Amino acid sequence: MIIGGPSSQLLGGRVAKVLKEDLALCEYSSFPDGESYTQVCSDLDDRIVLIQSTPSDRDIIQLLQLLDVFRGRRIDLVVPYFGYARQDKQFKPGEPLSARAMAVAMDAFLEEGSRIFTVNIHDRSVLNNFRHEATDLDAASVLADEIGKMKLDHPVIISPDKGAVRMAKVAAARLGIDYDYLEKTRHSGTEVSMAPKEIDASGRDVVILDDMIATGGTMAQAISILKSNGAKRVYLGSVHPVLTGNAVLKLCRAGVESIITTDTLEKAVSTVSVARLIAEAVRP
Ligand code: R5P
Repeated sequence: MIIGGPSSQLLGGRVAKVLKEDLALCEYSSFPDGESYTQVCSDLDDRIVLIQSTPSDRDIIQLLQLLDVFRGRRIDLVVPYFGYARQDKQFKPGEPLSARAMAVAMDAFLEEGSRIFTVNIHDRSVLNNFRHEATDLDAASVLADEIGKMKLDHPVIISPDKGAVRMAKVAAARLGIDYDYLEKTRHSGTEVSMAPKEIDASGRDVVILDDMIATGGTMAQAISILKSNGAKRVYLGSVHPVLTGNAVLKLCRAGVESIITTDTLEKAVSTVSVARLIAEAVRP
């Protein structure tokens, strides 16, 4: 039985379809004081796959409520977008490791034999906070397959920094095309420039690939740099479309051709599904 949490209803439905399994009917609403109300209305099966991304605090509460419903059962918990994963280091005394706090809270509900799956979590070390088997699934090939369907001119995949180059490498290898990353060069105390490390992007179509787009600042800057380096058309590929505030406006103003993201978060630009990736991972 597949449980599509409130933030992953469509993805839950898609995974159920791939696996040909029942999709549970659940109710998600609020009490007058704002507290979340959650109910699994369908009779519970022996095998439960619970899918819930946690982009907001409310999504985390609702996930914990669902986990409480399944207390005492072995489940597969899938958190496609794991909120707070970027808060995995302490910079000042007195700061929590919020990524660890989230993992520990979820883990407390999980029985022996349960498994956890995430998709391109910001840092895989967060998974070490679970006592149970925890696996991060990689959607780079899912995005690559979508990029492969586009009619691109002499394309190159570029990551906005060295940290994200692994995704670019995986996607480029699948497509048999070039990849690179933007490197920062400091010319003086105040002067910094950025450009692709190896490849001349001029006259070529570029797909910038990163794990997430949050404020859009990183991607907007990368688009501008590549355009000023003579790139022909610039596309964005990203696993998690967090897209806070005016992120989409920033990207459009920077001249993005189109944005391709997955349904780890269900937004208008989530045109690629990770359902098959998740289904293969949880398939008995
Ligand atoms: C950083 O480590 C991540 O890979 C993303 O590059 C970053 O989180 C994007 O954030 P924003 O869209 O706010 O620049």
